[in-house]
Amino acid sequence: MDRFVIRGGNPLHGTIRVSGAKNAALPAMAAAILTDEPIVLENIPQVRDIETTRKLLAAMGAEVELGYGRAQHRTTICCRGLTSPEASYELVKQMRASSLVLGPLVARCGRARVSLPGGCAIGARPIDLHVKGLECLGATITQEHGYIEASAKRLRGAEIVFDKITVTGTEDLLMAATLADGETVMQNCAREPEVADLADLLNRMGARIEGAGTSTIRIKGVSRLRGTKHRIIPDRIEAGTFVIAGALTGGDLNVVGCDPRHLSVVLEKLAEVGVRTASAGDSVRVIGDGVLKAADIGTEEYPGFPTDMQAQYMALATQAEGSSVVTENIFENRFMHAQELVRMGANIKIDGNRAIVKGKTPLSAAAVLASDLRASASLVLAALVADGETIVDRVYHIDRGYEHIEEKLRGVGAQIRRIGEIFPKRAVPAAVRA
Ligand code: EPZ
Repeated sequence: MDRFVIRGGNPLHGTIRVSGAKNAALPAMAAAILTDEPIVLENIPQVRDIETTRKLLAAMGAEVELGYGRAQHRTTICCRGLTSPEASYELVKQMRASSLVLGPLVARCGRARVSLPGGCAIGARPIDLHVKGLECLGATITQEHGYIEASAKRLRGAEIVFDKITVTGTEDLLMAATLADGETVMQNCAREPEVADLADLLNRMGARIEGAGTSTIRIKGVSRLRGTKHRIIPDRIEAGTFVIAGALTGGDLNVVGCDPRHLSVVLEKLAEVGVRTASAGDSVRVIGDGVLKAADIGTEEYPGFPTDMQAQYMALATQAEGSSVVTENIFENRFMHAQELVRMGANIKIDGNRAIVKGKTPLSAAAVLASDLRASASLVLAALVADGETIVDRVYHIDRGYEHIEEKLRGVGAQIRRIGEIFPKRAVPAAVRA
């Protein structure tokens, strides 16, 4: 099992580059199912979830080529010969976002068999709203042996009102509706930039979508979609994680290759805490020289404070003067990192969906355990300012959504190394080297 060894105390200086967004890349790869022509995706991050999606699509009969060397961030997918419209439990249990293939498979193949995702460290996370929406579009759905079986001769346009804002639910039904007969109007949709990016891709493929990025999306169904090329947006959560790393370590860091507009609520909150940042073009400069002051956050759907930044913010709050109340409103069990931070000396009390973080408390190195993707990022951030050498275990979680994070952080002065190597760089195949 891979682990990181991190010696704290080094301010981060220099330039750190952000990769493409995992949460934009996953639906984009699923969208390839909607056409029999090749889709070329660029700025694809080299993270574990991309590898899992490649396996998922390949198991259906798709040709998926993940680039290497200079093209390592390009992926070409062709779903001309889909033989088995199924997402197995083996793959879905590794990545819940596998449920993103449900809508596209029904829309393109007329049927789908997708394993239910099961439980998750951060919450129950059912996909009932995906199913309900597909039924609105005319699909017949049954559930058997842990699998959703869905079928429809051709989906038909409908009115869909989401009971709750769901990101992948919006994306799944957006994709399904592109090939439906007639117009679909979806309301109370997720407004995340990743949803808008998916709609951009689908419109390049010939879809007719309006309103993505707002709460109401209109989709005029078409009979077929074509291949295209699309560049994935940058990862706003990775960018936010690095901005907090700069603030926490008292460094001077330039986070480049991001879209500061997607981070505005996070940057506003950091300004309230006393962190100096300057955004320009595709970069955010953070100068961590000020005293950090406590401030409360409550996680919300976009454009509110992202739940995927909550754990990283909690690490920052341990070093802020005063009490910060961190309220988690999206997932019912997303404080697993808190007890690990307490092991490092933080003062955090959990009260239902609120965590009261008292600071500033000096952190000391300890052996800690990552429980999920963002929790592991929070522990890495805390270790960067802890006294001594911290061991972060189960970093396979962080590999799911951060591309070679230890190399990126080492590049700006962090003392971090990986023990074990289960997620090697994609090597140039022998045939090509010869
Ligand atoms: C997406 O998950 C992201 N994943 C998550 O990022 C992110 O935390 C989440 O949105 C919220 O921003 C991807 O995009 C691949 P939801 P998703 O459906 O779509 C409930 C990360 O760290 N709900 O918006 O699965 C659900 O339980 C990951 O990168 C239902 O009740 O989240 C939750 O309480 C973690 N029924 C709320 O809605 C449904 O059918 C929001 O979940 C669907 C959701």
